[in-house]
Amino acid sequence: MENVTFHDHKPRALSLYDAVVSGLSRSDKSIPPKFFYDQRGSELFDRICEQPEYYLPTVECRMLAELAGEIATLTGTGRVLIEPGAGSASKVRLLLDALRPSAFVPMDISFDYLKSSARDLALEYPWLPIHAACVDFTHSLPVPREVPDGPRLLFFPGSSLGNFNPGEAGRFLRLVHRTLGDRGMMLIGVDTKKSEGVLNAAYNDAAGLTADFNLNLLQRMQQELDADIDPDVFEHLAFYNSDKGRIEMHLVSTREQTLRLNGHRFDFKEGERLHTENSYKYSPAEFIGLATENGFSEVRHWVDDDGLFAVYLVGAV
Ligand SMILES: C[S@@+](CC[C@H](N)C(=O)[O-])C[C@H]1O[C@@H](n2cnc3c(N)ncnc32)[C@H](O)[C@@H]1O
Repeated sequence: MENVTFHDHKPRALSLYDAVVSGLSRSDKSIPPKFFYDQRGSELFDRICEQPEYYLPTVECRMLAELAGEIATLTGTGRVLIEPGAGSASKVRLLLDALRPSAFVPMDISFDYLKSSARDLALEYPWLPIHAACVDFTHSLPVPREVPDGPRLLFFPGSSLGNFNPGEAGRFLRLVHRTLGDRGMMLIGVDTKKSEGVLNAAYNDAAGLTADFNLNLLQRMQQELDADIDPDVFEHLAFYNSDKGRIEMHLVSTREQTLRLNGHRFDFKEGERLHTENSYKYSPAEFIGLATENGFSEVRHWVDDDGLFAVYLVGAV
């Protein structure tokens, strides 16, 4: 396959081991959500996207399919298209024929998964040069040298911005701004604030896939770090925290226990939580305010008819 190249830019220092030791040493135990994504985590996430309660991908994909032509009119064609956290690269397929990018740069922390989705995409779009990069986007967004010059468009769907707290989201937007350079634009999908019932159901699907996804973090600790831990004595917990405007995901220890890892001991009380993810929700005014504070101006935004999800096109100023 001639139209795809692979680049490993993941910083070596950011290991699961370091994250577990530092995250479990805190009084409020936490591990960043990027560690959900090994091969199994990526596969589970794709299955979560098929669950009826998890409305985000269904609504966003419907919007992108309807808006592709309008978006291309606003961005023009022939840009370098960069997608941090591309995963299965399913959403970009809705845009490629309209945007006709000069190159596509999917980036992800889950490199084996990214490689296979980039290979599939390369077969489907033989006209498209693809440069897939293993990147930790909380750290940097290195664009491979082979990528052609020209105006850039960064695509960040799936409300992945919500996994950052507002301060981190601002830092990420400034990193995007630097990566985009002159005439750069960003197309971003962000989940809206809405009824708590809808939000709580979305992160507690009846099939239990979000629970499996959350618990997979403990299986990674067992398999990759040889941690002495029993995933069966933890439970999935997800709820909307309306004060903070975010879904919180935790693993709750169902009894007192000690996790042992390479000479370290981490004690859990019964009911103690390990915080694994936040998903902040933004009203359009909140998101546009955040983008404006961090170097962007609004070109246009769209909200679906039920107010469930928003897509924003912003330009770097
Ligand atoms: C919530 S999924 C969204 C996937 C896809 N963009 C979508 O909208 O369906 C998050 C994706 O970002 C990747 N990811 C999470 N944290 C990351 C990080 N720090 N750096 C790079 N990729 C990351 C995951 O592997 C996963 O593919």
